[in-house]
Amino acid sequence: MADERLISDEASGDDETIERTLRPQRLDDYIGQSAIKKQLAIYIKAAKKREEAMDHVLLYGPPGLGKTTLAIVIANELGAGIRTTSGPAIEKAGDLVAMLNELQPGDVLFIDEIHRLPKPIEEMLYSAMEDFYVDIVVGQGPTAHPVHFPLPPFTLIGATTRAGMLSAPLRDRFGITGHMVYYAPEELTQIVQRSAGIFNMTLPEASALELARRSRGTPRIANRLLRRIRDFADVAEADEISVSLVDHALDQLQVDGSGLDQIDRKLLSIMIRDYDGGPVGLNTIAANIGEESATIEEMVEPYLMQIGFLKRTPQGRMVTPASYEHLGFPYTEK
Ligand SMILES: Nc1ncnc2c1ncn2[C@@H]1O[C@H](COP(=O)(O)OP(=O)(O)O)[C@@H](O)[C@H]1O
Ligand SMILES: [Mg+2]
Repeated sequence: MADERLISDEASGDDETIERTLRPQRLDDYIGQSAIKKQLAIYIKAAKKREEAMDHVLLYGPPGLGKTTLAIVIANELGAGIRTTSGPAIEKAGDLVAMLNELQPGDVLFIDEIHRLPKPIEEMLYSAMEDFYVDIVVGQGPTAHPVHFPLPPFTLIGATTRAGMLSAPLRDRFGITGHMVYYAPEELTQIVQRSAGIFNMTLPEASALELARRSRGTPRIANRLLRRIRDFADVAEADEISVSLVDHALDQLQVDGSGLDQIDRKLLSIMIRDYDGGPVGLNTIAANIGEESATIEEMVEPYLMQIGFLKRTPQGRMVTPASYEHLGFPYTEK
């Protein structure tokens, strides 16, 4: 376990099956993200009333906050079908056309990692999104000719961890934009209690809250830690998950009191010890801790910034006094 990241972009194998069973299916069971939920409830109702496809939705935010889940929830609430794909998976124009062509009127097409769509595919999406058609070129050489291809009205839901990497023309074609935010401990408490129910575990509120506080505001992490805690409980033959059991399990997993894991602590300690707290450039940090810059930027830093342990400045990243204190380093004013 020591080397396995608790935060990762995608679940795989077993994890994926379990994630599926834990996914809320309806808006009412989808905890938190109240700003987006309120908006969506109205748009969903309006679309159903008018019997039209709902406007396209762009969901962006860090991994594990519930973008895929929300896309499924939206389709369920619309009473529509959903087809799921991802930016890098659509290689050829034909792939996109085939997928769009299979949709029933009003269905949802979910494109994960939409910032990674090949450019020509992205350009085809413009007319598909705006006026529900694509122009494709059929044939080759002198016989090549454009064909106008009408599509059923559909709702595109795009998800991305990097809204900044979306081109303006694509971004502008989404009528609804939802910025996913980290979950409050109280919300994560509800989420893990719901998951514990599905796992048939007895998880008292205080234990759920302790777990929630140490899950980086992220449901995927909270649910993963819950499963690890269940393993500890099974081995200890504990019927009930006490706070001290949660504490013990998370300590073993090297998740500290603020929910930081080894990589977080490594990053902050190196910045403090070797760079006097910064400013340090992203690539320098990445090289020092042996992770990709993108991983750090998308999965490590956002939470550290959210809890006020790290700051981004034009000169580079800087560690805050709170971070020194948390890690037990003396802080001297610069
Ligand atoms: N609002 C929520 N309420 C309850 N569970 C959630 C919520 N959001 C996410 N989850 C849980 O977290 C897991 C990861 O969510 P997912 O939608 O895959 O995140 P993303 O697509 O943003 O990476 C899901 O399997 C689901 O069980
Ligand atoms: Mg996802």
